Amino acid sequence: MATVFAPGVVKLFGEHAVVYGKPAIAAAIDKGVYVSCEMANELVVETFGAPSFVRYFPRQKRVETWGGERFFSYIDAALKIAEETWGPLDAKFVIKSDLPPSVGAATSAAVSIGFLKAYSSCAGADVEKIELARLGHRVELEVQGVASPMDTTVSALGGVLKIWSTPFRVERLDVSLPFYIVFLPRIGTTKEIVAAVKAYVEKRQSLKWVLEAIGYVVEEGEGCLRRGDLVCVGELMYINNWLLGALGVVDRRVVELLEAVGPYIYGGKISGAGRGGVVLLLPRDEELLIKALSLLNLKFLNTSVYTRGVTEL
Ligand code: PMV
Repeated sequence: MATVFAPGVVKLFGEHAVVYGKPAIAAAIDKGVYVSCEMANELVVETFGAPSFVRYFPRQKRVETWGGERFFSYIDAALKIAEETWGPLDAKFVIKSDLPPSVGAATSAAVSIGFLKAYSSCAGADVEKIELARLGHRVELEVQGVASPMDTTVSALGGVLKIWSTPFRVERLDVSLPFYIVFLPRIGTTKEIVAAVKAYVEKRQSLKWVLEAIGYVVEEGEGCLRRGDLVCVGELMYINNWLLGALGVVDRRVVELLEAVGPYIYGGKISGAGRGGVVLLLPRDEELLIKALSLLNLKFLNTSVYTRGVTEL
């Protein structure tokens, strides 16, 4: 039996703009998705918790899943690519996640990368992480239509990476940071939010300059990260967040949260497509931050950079 861990991903700088050719900086985190694979009589995929709700009709002994279609569309796409690459397999896959789905923690990328890695292990194939990143990106493109290679690359390779999508390039930054991630209910899927931003950018010329400005934030943020200057990283996270606000993906809940915990953090921003979802906080005073988040009754996690990328455990 092979068990694989594929890390989730937080975006430090540059989401959305990365879709328009700007670089982005993202980090793999020590929370993610576990996929195990063992040979069986038939192909079966089991999952515990999160991806969908189950509705049970006791009189008919019938079970319906709600929200499962989206999750299984990633499995179907990953399976198709895995079968094309390594041949068909009769195996049982079990998927577990530390993170809630569809909030911007890259669970779909981690499921795709974890599934591909587990499948290749069960098939006895040795595959490079960069190849898994490439195949994982194909899965996301197939399901979402539009997707940068950011999440799948970071989940596959690990660490803090600067990514360019066109032409694809990746550079590793040797930095380590603690983060808090807060989960807010997300309004819309990545696909819907990316499409809404595209329509807005096409309608309002000025937004091209907002994307340009995000590109500058990424470059300046890289310098601050490399110097370990947390005050500067935090300030640029705020700036990036306001620019994302101009794109229409930061709502009042995020602004209020950042205001409420402002004294205890260097900075914060949405991470991912936005409209709720993951809010990334760079802690200044962890004790007081935890107290404040608990008082606000928010669901949050403490996490740090995971340098190894997808790993067979
Ligand atoms: O919300 P997530 O984790 O799916 O991240 C989306 C990131 C975007 O830059 C908005 C889209 C992309 O494909 O890079």
